[in-house]
Amino acid sequence: MIQFKKTILGASALVVAFATAVWAEGEIPALATLPTPKSPADNPLTPEKVALGEKLYWDGRLSGNGSMPCSSCHLPDVGWGTGAPISFGYPGTQHWRNSQTILNSAYYNKFFWEGSATSLESQAPDAAGGGVAGNGDDAMMEMRLRFVPDYVRDFKQVFGTEWPNIAQAWMAIAAYERTIVTDATKVPFDRYLAGDAAAMSDEAKRGMDLFNGKAGCISCHNGALVSDQKFYNIGVPTAPEFADDPLYQITQRWELYQKGVSEEVYRESGKDLGLYFRTKRPEDKYKFRTPSLRELRWTEPFMHNGVLATLPDVVAFYNAGGGEGQTAGLQPLGLSDAEQAELVAFLEALSMDEPLLLDEPELPETATWSEFDK
Ligand code: HEC
Ligand code: HEC
Repeated sequence: MIQFKKTILGASALVVAFATAVWAEGEIPALATLPTPKSPADNPLTPEKVALGEKLYWDGRLSGNGSMPCSSCHLPDVGWGTGAPISFGYPGTQHWRNSQTILNSAYYNKFFWEGSATSLESQAPDAAGGGVAGNGDDAMMEMRLRFVPDYVRDFKQVFGTEWPNIAQAWMAIAAYERTIVTDATKVPFDRYLAGDAAAMSDEAKRGMDLFNGKAGCISCHNGALVSDQKFYNIGVPTAPEFADDPLYQITQRWELYQKGVSEEVYRESGKDLGLYFRTKRPEDKYKFRTPSLRELRWTEPFMHNGVLATLPDVVAFYNAGGGEGQTAGLQPLGLSDAEQAELVAFLEALSMDEPLLLDEPELPETATWSEFDK
């Protein structure tokens, strides 16, 4: 379970300042082992629902042209993302953000880089329907499912309805995602917390002390998820694609339009405005959700636009005090090369020893109308 207790002994002034700013009582949730994810009361987890959700996750029928299942941009062997700085988009488009891993997405209370979805159940239709993602039409996708006898049988068994319904498909996918989580027995840090002192190297242990102390990471990356799920502008540089890829620029402009940004801001901004899209408050420009720091070994590259390729790059970025224009109160950290390497070793110790790999399930066949009449 998530533990709430004072974690920082001998913390630097920087961390204390953060602690009071971010956590009113000056308390920061300690790093901890993840609990089993919770499911909403109206979408309980059953093995049959998870098995159905797994198939749907891999099934291109849940996209416009049949070629863009969830798995196409969240592939197990590239950390359940795409592995590229910026995700590719629906054919004919270019996405504009880094594809987030769905590993441990079960633990967030807000989804996407700016937190615009509030449950996995409501995130999935946004993904399958989004113009630069799945670009599917709900009624068409639902009709496709109704023409698959195996799905008709599975949906009936899981949801008790005569025909598959598209909202049920999202519920099944959400249930499946709640099973794509870290196995604590495979994570050096969690084994260490469970009492195996040798599970982490001395270098990683020193990195953990830096994380909790001098480097100040714990003020935002905390609790079992290693994220406070809040939003900050840490000054991540603009993606290079912004300057030279017309398809990227089209998406960027289209997103600003879609998200109701005013003409004035639209013209001024060459950057992803992040949380501002939701709140339209100037102080929220360029703020993004603090990501979990679990499984980073398998989820390169990093940040909302993937501009930082490796963990040493990320640590060097923070060591320099974050990026230009940051408003998160980051300061240069003054870490030596050895200390930076220790911090990287600790970040790696928050990942499983092996990536979570799963095989593509076999997908059921589509039938004709006459086959249903039999
Ligand atoms: C074209 C590629 C693409 C497809 C197809 C796609 N996604 Fe994504 N996904 C992304 C990108 C890129 C993001 C980050 C988008 C953002 O923040 O605006 C994302 C974000 C997410 C997140 C949020 C994770 C978090 O930490 O908040 C979840 C969950 C997710 N996708 C699940 C799905 C599911 C389920 C499907 C299928 C219904 C799907 N995706 C289809 C590219 C894709
Ligand atoms: C003020 C809050 C804050 C502090 C302090 C902070 N981070 Fe972050 N971190 C964030 C936010 C917000 C992002 C996402 C920024 C973006 O994409 O624009 C992020 C992103 C990251 C990522 C990328 C993860 C991914 O999946 O893309 C890593 C790695 C990371 N931080 C490590 C650290 C380390 C190591 C420290 C300490 C040296 C640290 N952070 C300190 C808020 C913080």
